[in-house]
Amino acid sequence: MRFLFNLSFLLLAPVVLIEKFRFDNYTLFKVLPENERQIEILQNLQDNDLRFDFWSSPGIKAEFVNIMSKPENKIDLDNFLKSNGINYEIVMSNIQEAIDKETVSPYTRGRTPSMQFDTYYNLEGINAWINDLVRTYSEVTKLVGGVSYEGREIEGFRISHGSGRKIIFLEGGLHAREWISPATVCFIANELLTSTNPETRAAARDFDWYIFPVTNPDGYVWSHTNFRMWRKNRRPIGNFFGVDLNRNWNSNWLVSGASTNPATDTYAGPGPFSEPESRSLSTYLRSLGDRIDMYLSFHSFGELLLIPFGNSTAPYANYHDAINIGRRAMGALSVRFGTLYRTGNIAEAIYLATGGSIDWVKEDLNVPLVYCYESRDRGQYGFLLPPEQILPNSQETMDSVLELIHQGRRFGYLNNSGRILSPLLWVMIVALAKLLWVYKF
Ligand SMILES: *[C@@H]1O[C@H](CO)[C@@H](O)[C@H](O)[C@H]1NC(C)=O
Ligand SMILES: *[C@@H]1O[C@H](CO)[C@@H](O)[C@H](O)[C@H]1NC(C)=O
Ligand SMILES: [Zn+2]
Repeated sequence: MRFLFNLSFLLLAPVVLIEKFRFDNYTLFKVLPENERQIEILQNLQDNDLRFDFWSSPGIKAEFVNIMSKPENKIDLDNFLKSNGINYEIVMSNIQEAIDKETVSPYTRGRTPSMQFDTYYNLEGINAWINDLVRTYSEVTKLVGGVSYEGREIEGFRISHGSGRKIIFLEGGLHAREWISPATVCFIANELLTSTNPETRAAARDFDWYIFPVTNPDGYVWSHTNFRMWRKNRRPIGNFFGVDLNRNWNSNWLVSGASTNPATDTYAGPGPFSEPESRSLSTYLRSLGDRIDMYLSFHSFGELLLIPFGNSTAPYANYHDAINIGRRAMGALSVRFGTLYRTGNIAEAIYLATGGSIDWVKEDLNVPLVYCYESRDRGQYGFLLPPEQILPNSQETMDSVLELIHQGRRFGYLNNSGRILSPLLWVMIVALAKLLWVYKF
C-alpha cells in the first residue's frame, strides 16, 4: 500500500512540478508618441521586431503604447526610442513583482459567498462557483456556450426570472491574460443575484442574462499555470501555439490589424472560425436568434468603451445612438471614482482591427446594442491590475451597465418587446384563427 502510494506520487510529480515562466527584471515601457511619424515608427517596430511584446497597439489615436521588454533587450529599446526622439516612462522595472502581487484565491466548494471580488480566481474556482450558483438559486441555469481545443467546455449560466425576456449577453475572458475581465463579469452576475438595489433587481428581473466569464478556457488556464502573459488559445500551429480569438471571427476576417504569422499575438488563424472556441460560441450565439438585445464583451486595458466596427472609422449601423448611449453610460461610470472612459468605434478609438467578436455579433446577428469594455487601467499595470483595483473596476463597470440599460431604453432599445408583445400576439393569432374558422363555415 505504502509502496503503491509512493509510486503514484513519482508518476504525478512531473505534472505537479510544471515550471512557471518567470518575468524577473522584465520591463514595462509606457511610450508617449506625439505625432503620426512617431506612431508609424512604433508600428514598424511592432511588425518587424518580435523581441518585444506590445501590450497595446500604436493606433492612430493612441495616447500611449505599452511595450514589455526582456531584460537583455531593454537597452536596445531605450536607445531606439531615444534616437527617434520618442518620449517614454518605465512604469514597471520588474514585471514579476506585479505578477507576485496578483492574489489568486482558492474557491471553497459549496459556499457561494466564499467567492470574493477583490481577488482573482483560476478556471476551476470560477466553474465550481457557477455549479454552486446553479444549486443555490432557482433562477440560475447552467449553460455550455461551446468547447475549446483542449476539450474544455465554455461554461456559463443564465439568470432568468421567467420566459419570453430578451437577452443581455456577457462575454468575458476571450483574451487569456486579461484577468480583470472574468473578475468583472463574475461581479456583475453576483450583483444581479444578491444586490438589494432596486435598479439592479429590476435589471435582473427584466432580462435573461447569459453570462460566460471565460470564453477562452485553455488560454486562461495556461496564463495561470505556465505563462502569465498568454493571450491566444492553445492550438498548436506548426512550431507555435495559439490563435488570437478576437481576430478569428468571420467578419472582415484578416482585413486589418491581424497577422498571418502564428508567432505573433494577433495571429488570425488559418481561416475565419478556424478555432473551436470562436466557431462553437458563434454557433451557440446564432441559436439564440434575435433574442439578444445587448451584447457586452469584456477586455482590458485602456479605459475605453468600443462599438463596432473595426474596419473603418465610418459610422455604420446605429452608430450615433450607440455612441450617445455609451457616452452617457461612461458618465455614470465616472461618478464613483472619477475614472474617465473614452467611447468610440474600434477603428477610431484604438486602431483598425477586424475579425473580433463584437463586429460579428453586430454584422451577423444584428444585435441592437453591442459594446466592448477595455477596462482599467491606462498603462500603469496593464494586464497586471493589482487586486485592490478589482472591486472598484467592477463596481464602476456595474454602474455603467445599469446606465446602458437606462439610456438604451430612453433611445428606444431594450424595451422587452418580446415580453409585452407576445401575449398580445397570441390573442391576435387566436382571434385570426377563430375568424378563419367562422368564414370557412
Ligand atoms: C534582476 O536585477 C537585479 C538588479 O540588477 C539583479 O541583482 C538580479 O540578479 C536580477 N534577477 C534576475 C533573475 O535576473
Ligand atoms: C466595414 O464593415 C462593415 C460590416 O461588415 C461593412 O458594412 C462596411 O462596408 C465595411 N466598410 C469598409 C470601408 O470596408
Ligand atoms: Zn483583449
